[in-house]
Amino acid sequence: MKQTNLLYSGKAKSVYRTDTKGKLIIEFRDDITAFDGRKKDVLKNKGNFNAEVSAFVFRYLEKNGVKTHFVKMIDENKMIVRELSMIPLEVIVRNLTAGSLVRKYPFKEGSPLNPPVIVIDYKDDSRHDPMLNDDIIIALGLTTSAELKKIKTICLKINHLLKDFLAKQGIILVDFKMEFGRQGKTIYLGDEISMDSMRLWDKKTGKSLDKDVYRFDKGDVMATYNLVTKRITTTKTRVHKKR
Ligand code: ATP
Ligand code: TYD
Repeated sequence: MKQTNLLYSGKAKSVYRTDTKGKLIIEFRDDITAFDGRKKDVLKNKGNFNAEVSAFVFRYLEKNGVKTHFVKMIDENKMIVRELSMIPLEVIVRNLTAGSLVRKYPFKEGSPLNPPVIVIDYKDDSRHDPMLNDDIIIALGLTTSAELKKIKTICLKINHLLKDFLAKQGIILVDFKMEFGRQGKTIYLGDEISMDSMRLWDKKTGKSLDKDVYRFDKGDVMATYNLVTKRITTTKTRVHKKR
């Protein structure tokens, strides 16, 4: 498969067409941004770490029956994916209170959320990704009611799988963001699952192991990404037991 023209260049990834219909190449670049792109830097190898963790997570989820866009890695920072018609939603699952939830509502940081809380934002930088509710999503025609129900079910399954897997590595999955898209009528998990899109805390020390290290200048970002990548990808996954 050959990479052809650039389709889209976002804040951290570039998407290329290929000579094969229905397949794209996603390049994870070394760019890192926060606060709607107001803070930005280039950190050597960051793209490789995020690509490696995303590929690992996609493979693990596929093994456990979740449909993802992932096909295969072709380079340290490039993967072939199924071309999706993206649904402009940022679907966030939260197991503990942190980030915008603590800024906006009277929660104490680090309080457990049982059951997990799903927050869905409209993916539109020009509007600063406003939070949606089910009625607005359907009124805007972003999904049908059945699709929304399905997306929520898939999200909770992914959360259960990831939370359990990471807990075994001594990592707490505080919250994470997912994006979905369609190919035909089928909904697939797209985009990435990486240190940029998950909020991870070390179980022993409580220290941040994700992009919060960059957002809030908490330490050496690349040393953290390197360490987390090793902790996540050097473990054998298995098919998760049914609850
Ligand atoms: P943000 O950082 O807010 O997620 P962005 O658009 O700047 O936004 P990037 O990750 O840099 O994000 O760009 C990747 C783009 O590719 C995103 O718009 C994402 O929705 C899109 N995308 C991800 N997976 C697929 C796929 N399988 N098919 C088509 N587009 C995809
Ligand atoms: P959230 O607490 O809403 O925002 P902030 O990052 O401003 O504190 O983020 C919840 C989780 O979702 C966190 O793990 C980061 C991830 N996320 C993204 O990857 N992209 C986004 O655009 C947003 C809003 C969140």
